Formats: sequence, C-alpha cells, structure tokens
Amino acid sequence: MKIFLDTANFDSIVKFNEMGIVDGITTNPTLLSKEKGNPIETMKKIVEYVKGPVSLEIVASSFDEMMDEGLKLAKYGENAVVKVPMTSDGLKVVKALSSKNIKTNVTLVFSANQALLAAKAGATYVSPFIGRLDDIGHEGLNLIKEIVQIFTNYSIPTQVLVASVRHPLHVIESAKIGADVVTLPPDTLDKMIRHPLTDKGLDLFLNDWKKLVKDHPDLKF
Ligand code: E4P
Repeated sequence: MKIFLDTANFDSIVKFNEMGIVDGITTNPTLLSKEKGNPIETMKKIVEYVKGPVSLEIVASSFDEMMDEGLKLAKYGENAVVKVPMTSDGLKVVKALSSKNIKTNVTLVFSANQALLAAKAGATYVSPFIGRLDDIGHEGLNLIKEIVQIFTNYSIPTQVLVASVRHPLHVIESAKIGADVVTLPPDTLDKMIRHPLTDKGLDLFLNDWKKLVKDHPDLKF
C-alpha cells in the first residue's frame, strides 16, 4: 500500500520524504490555508520537490472554469494530479482531463456509487473520506471495503485512496482491506513510527552501553 502525506506543510514533507516513507502528497484548500505564503507558489514548490504524485485541488464549480484550472494545475509538473470534486460537472472534467492523459483524483467521495461513477469517468484515484463518515456515526472503513470489492470484481484500474484518516488504526485496517493508498496527516504518520516499547528498549540498550564504556574507557567502533 502506498502512503501519501496529507499536508501542504513543506517542512513536514521534507522531514518524511527524507525517511523514504512517503510515496506522494495530497493537498486541499483547507490545508493550504494553514500555511503562510502564496498558495500557488506552495503548490508549485511541493510538485517540484516531491517525485511522486501530488494532488492539487481545483476550486471552480462550472465545467469551463474547472477545466481551465485543471489544465493549469496539470502544467505544474508531470507528477501533478488534478483533484476534482465529486459533482456532475466534476465527472465531466475527469473524463475530459483523463482523455488528455492528465491524472485525476476525485475528492469528497462518501458512497460506493460515487466511487463507481468516478472510476467510470476515468479517475486515476477516488478519495473516500472515512474520518468524516466516522464523525457522523457511520463506519468509514465499511465504505473502503465496498469500493475495494467492487473495483476488484470488475478489475477497475482506478486506485482507492483512503482520505480523512484520523489515526493509525485506520491505516492498518485500510491495508488489511487492500486499499491502494492511504493519505495521512503528519501527526498520524509520526504516531505510526513510535512505540513505547521501542523507546523503553532503546533506553535500556543505551544505558547498558554506558556501563560497558565505564569498564572499557577506550571503547570505539
Ligand atoms: C485528502 O485528500 C482530503 O482532502 C483530506 O484527507 C480530508 O481530511 P479531513 O477530513 O481531515 O479534512
């Protein structure tokens, strides 16, 4: 399963990219609004720095304006993926962009029907938002199970990109279901790295090494 970072924060992107654990980035207007500076420059900087796919969201709502934005965003780099909302005009945009070999990510997906239609229109990725479903008392992961099953049944090439992830358990469950990608906020990725037994075990090893250094003052690797 691929891991994308769900952020527009450049420092976080660099931090996790240097660990080699990030396959791509997803951004949205809310994430961009949390960062200082010009959002267009931020998007361009991320696309240039990251090798993998970077989703950049269009903000217009009519077909013509969405196409205009989508074509411009696609020019930011070969790895740019145009993020399109799950609306009727959005589906038209996905069809038009995919016929030009421009990659798309259909966002704000909350049902298996929406995912199926987005795939039919030619989406590269569909983004079901599981945390927001959990928030209103639905089991977000059930949606992932449904979409993965449907796409598997019909060998649909669109990738299931699990979005609105809130905690590490969402990641494990998505991987068990067989989702293609999970996009994570930086703090969730941090939580996945850490384990209290790792910290405790490391303290013990380092303390024991200090004892060895006392007995052998010239100890060197
Ligand atoms: C990613 O593509 C989505 O925009 C993001 O995961 C939404 O997450 P949120 O529900 O925490 O805002």
